Amino acid sequence: MPDKIRVLIVDDIPETRDHLSKLLGFEADIEVVGAAASGREAIDTARSMKPDIVLMDINMPDMDGITATEQMAAEVPTAAVVMMSVQGEADYLRRSMLAGAREFLVKPFSSDELTLSIRHVYTREREKLSRMAVQPVAGAPAAAPAGHSTREGQEPGRVVAVFGPKGGVGRTTLAVNLAVAAATELGQRTCLVDASFQFGDVGVLLNLNPKNKSIADVIPELESGELESLDTFVINHSSGIRVLLAPPSPEMAELITPVGAKAMIEGLRLENDLVVVDCMASFNDTTLAILDQADVVLTMLSLEITSIKNIRLFLEVAEQLGYPSDKIRLVLNRADSSLGIRVADVEHSIGRRVDHTIVSDGRSVVYALNRGVPFFLSNREAQVSQDVLRLASAVVGTKAAVADEPAKKAGQKKSLFAWR
Ligand SMILES: Nc1ncnc2c1ncn2[C@@H]1O[C@H](COP(=O)(O)OP(=O)(O)OP(=O)(O)O)[C@@H](O)[C@H]1O
Ligand SMILES: [Mg+2]
Repeated sequence: MPDKIRVLIVDDIPETRDHLSKLLGFEADIEVVGAAASGREAIDTARSMKPDIVLMDINMPDMDGITATEQMAAEVPTAAVVMMSVQGEADYLRRSMLAGAREFLVKPFSSDELTLSIRHVYTREREKLSRMAVQPVAGAPAAAPAGHSTREGQEPGRVVAVFGPKGGVGRTTLAVNLAVAAATELGQRTCLVDASFQFGDVGVLLNLNPKNKSIADVIPELESGELESLDTFVINHSSGIRVLLAPPSPEMAELITPVGAKAMIEGLRLENDLVVVDCMASFNDTTLAILDQADVVLTMLSLEITSIKNIRLFLEVAEQLGYPSDKIRLVLNRADSSLGIRVADVEHSIGRRVDHTIVSDGRSVVYALNRGVPFFLSNREAQVSQDVLRLASAVVGTKAAVADEPAKKAGQKKSLFAWR
């Protein structure tokens, strides 16, 4: 019989602890190894009982669940926290994830949801540990060690993360074409990274196969901080850009930790003038590590209410994280689509100006996508290519006048909604 999943229950309400304990008691593969009524007690119990999973309530006297999760990550790193909270606490979700929680259960949840979450997190953690040849080292060096192949005598390059808190807003499209524009028109030695580790699309847009070479080949070295150079794992694309692809299969994404992602970015920074990172939409700790490292976060949105809502939440998180306001640049994709929401409405809703706009051009974009050739190469004169080049110039810092352009184009020059 395989090992049972060892669970610690943390909740200040005795009835809840009992209830959870009874529910889990019916599961043959789960064993409740302890219960704690506060964050502090949870850490003490976890230290001695070494649970695999900690079911953690958020609101508790003395030490709340988020603080306890942070401490747990430092003191009992093998215990994976599943956070439990009542509905309407969206802010808690973000803070829990930042603290290191692996999953978030909204109360009331069914016993199926509970056991599924526990098993899912447990399997993921086990896979992570068993697949990793070398355990992650907390605080491993951010930059690659001496001997790393740097560009002789040059400053480390700029890192531009292309992010969007909602999927399907055009991150990959922008990241690929921005990288190509910077390399071909602005003479930048550019590396494009597919950090959409689970379902990366960069390979599709560039007609490259991750089976040949990808970040999956270098994970142990990234995790241990023993990386010599990333050059061997980077593919030279015919457009002139260099590409580090996402792993060939989704489950390998779990193996890339914040420490590994940070080492990856710092290594690439030394070998390139510009590193463009196509980030995933989910706001997990690995994405956060990349955003932390980035000099500029191009945050993409579209004229859809869900996209706008998520941007507002992301801007709040960015503020909490202490990012300077000019690190985040808002890029409105398909800005000219008339979908019932105007740019002014967006700016009003999020309380700041959109910094860059990109026109909608389904013909060029989708045709390019299906051929595996970036539209910046196949349709260089199109407005969408011009917009991407303008954006590339702005992030590389070659043309100072660029930043005003989108506002003029969208007729928002006199916008009342100045930057916060
Ligand atoms: N400016 C544009 N004009 C027309 N179509 C666009 C534009 N930008 C992106 N698209 C289309 O929108 C779709 C989503 O784009 P893309 O895959 O780049 O988004 P994403 O944010 O990377 O999505 P995912 O969440 O899947 O990673 C694609 O079909 C793409 O061709
Ligand atoms: Mg994508």
